[in-house]
Amino acid sequence: MLELRNVTKVYNAGTVSEQRLFQDFSLTVEEGQFVAIVGGNGSGKTSLLNIICGSIPIEAGDVLVKGESILKWKDYQRYATMGRVYQDPSAGTCPNLTMLENLSLADNKGKPFNLRRGVDRRRTDYYREQLRALGLGLEDKLNVKMGSLSGGQRQAVALLMATMTPLRFLILDEHTAALDPKTAEVIMALTDKVVREKRLTAVMVTHNLRYAVEYGDRILMMNQGRVALDRAGEEKRTISMEDILTMFNKISIECGN
Ligand SMILES: Nc1ncnc2c1ncn2[C@@H]1O[C@H](COP(=O)(O)OP(=O)(O)OP(=O)(O)O)[C@@H](O)[C@H]1O
Ligand SMILES: [Mg+2]
Repeated sequence: MLELRNVTKVYNAGTVSEQRLFQDFSLTVEEGQFVAIVGGNGSGKTSLLNIICGSIPIEAGDVLVKGESILKWKDYQRYATMGRVYQDPSAGTCPNLTMLENLSLADNKGKPFNLRRGVDRRRTDYYREQLRALGLGLEDKLNVKMGSLSGGQRQAVALLMATMTPLRFLILDEHTAALDPKTAEVIMALTDKVVREKRLTAVMVTHNLRYAVEYGDRILMMNQGRVALDRAGEEKRTISMEDILTMFNKISIECGN
């Protein structure tokens, strides 16, 4: 279980541009839950993910995993527990290294650094199998530089890399936004498969309302650092695109956008 408890997040504290984004914000994500988060630009989605991942400090409150505070976790503890995929397909991968080297680095994430471990023959065959399963023809490109792959191919590999080690949490920030519609579908289906197969607890931010409706077992809509809508399980299954869109527009009008 992942929990944000009474979190306060203030940007630019004490300056004229001070912004109190979260005030006493609490959220509990159950073990194995797949949460889709939608919300307008600037509503606090990325900040929320950054707080979960410990990438930004908070002014008050706590972030807990199974009731234990993770605020003071070391990077290696986070890497071993949380995988993250960003909007930009080149984030999270090294463009100048080959796909094999990238996969090997991801595979050894959180372990004492030793590249040789990752590139032995058995491991290489394993990577090839993992890539084959993506169905994008990447299994023959192990020695190709990551930077020469297309955005969609890179994002598929980034997802594979993020989930290579035995993780518990997968954090996705608009990870299909930079992809063409067909590739976005492939990556989304792949994401769903990985989350189910590895029984991950996933938090996915998306501007694609259809994905938020179709995937995951809980939907959250954010508005100005607050949760404006929260539906899980059966309540989530019965929600439609129109419902979400109506809600979205209503909030936008209320906010004067
Ligand atoms: N590093 C920062 N310094 C100052 N303000 C920030 C910082 N990061 C975010 N903010 C502010 O916090 C608010 C929420 O930003 P955030 O990036 O979390 O929104 P978002 O919901 O992810 O938006 P988008 O859909 O555009 O990605 C915005 O008003 C933004 O200007
Ligand atoms: Mg964002």
